Amino acid sequence: MSPAMEPAEGSHLDALAYLECALGLLGSVLLKLVRSAYGRYASPRPACRVPARAAWALQELPSLAVPLWVCARTAAERLRHAPNRVLLAMFLVHYAQRSLIFPLLIRGGKPMPLYTCTLAFMFCVYNGYLQSRYLSQYAVYADDWVTDPRFLLGFCLWLIGMLINIHSDHILRNLRKPGETGYKIPRGGLFEYVTAANYFGEVVEWCGYALASWSVQGGAFAAFTFCILVSRAQQHHQWYLEKFEDYPKFRKIIIPFLL
Ligand SMILES: NC(=O)c1ccc[n+]([C@@H]2O[C@H](COP(=O)([O-])OP(=O)(O)OC[C@H]3O[C@@H](n4cnc5c(N)ncnc54)[C@H](OP(=O)(O)O)[C@@H]3O)[C@@H](O)[C@H]2O)c1
Repeated sequence: MSPAMEPAEGSHLDALAYLECALGLLGSVLLKLVRSAYGRYASPRPACRVPARAAWALQELPSLAVPLWVCARTAAERLRHAPNRVLLAMFLVHYAQRSLIFPLLIRGGKPMPLYTCTLAFMFCVYNGYLQSRYLSQYAVYADDWVTDPRFLLGFCLWLIGMLINIHSDHILRNLRKPGETGYKIPRGGLFEYVTAANYFGEVVEWCGYALASWSVQGGAFAAFTFCILVSRAQQHHQWYLEKFEDYPKFRKIIIPFLL
């Protein structure tokens, strides 16, 4: 979509989007060299760590707060248009769930290293600003964009992906009885096909958002999510195979029947 005003800032937003893609690629290379440092891989040595619930709420909150701040502090010209409003709402709905509901539901989650929490916080500020500034000030859509097949397919993928993500996180959570902190083999839902069903849902969700927004900014977020979550899913897959002798060998890593 073409920028509506101030093309200089519009091209800055494009540059930020390309940088986000590069950060995703860099993150996936780093995650191949060193294991991601939270959850089951967190060092048992005492370090500066934040309790899981507080960490998830704090680090994800900027994805909700920054867009609200962006839209409140300037006249959000483009939000007069339905496609821009719906796309921003898609982003906010996900992060309302992730920052306000998901942390309360965590069961026995491992404390998060402070530096991981800080990196996630910085990413959420960055991406929250990028998506909301683009949608509220620059993205120009035809008023009938919400009936365009790209938008409709993207919206359906976003919704299905979010439902898969929430359902799969629910399955993982319920593997533990209250007070337990150990790990079991996940069963049911898309876990019958892949190790990282929750990540699969998240990737489908942001690919749907990217398609519906038809923008470099949306595509960059989907690409970043793909790079990071495929790497972490590969680590989880290897970890299950090593830890559980009876782990189902036919399960794929993240994409059913494919990867
Ligand atoms: N958009 C992005 O780039 C991005 C990046 C990261 C995460 N996320 C999303 O954030 C959510 C959480 O991510 P995550 O990396 O923490 O997911 P995860 O490693 O699958 O863990 C999710 C939760 O389930 C628990 N758990 C996982 N496997 C378990 C098992 N086999 N038995 C018992 N409990 C188990 C974990 O406990 P422990 O903490 O004790 O391991 C944690 O509380 C996911 O929905 C993911 O899609 C998104």
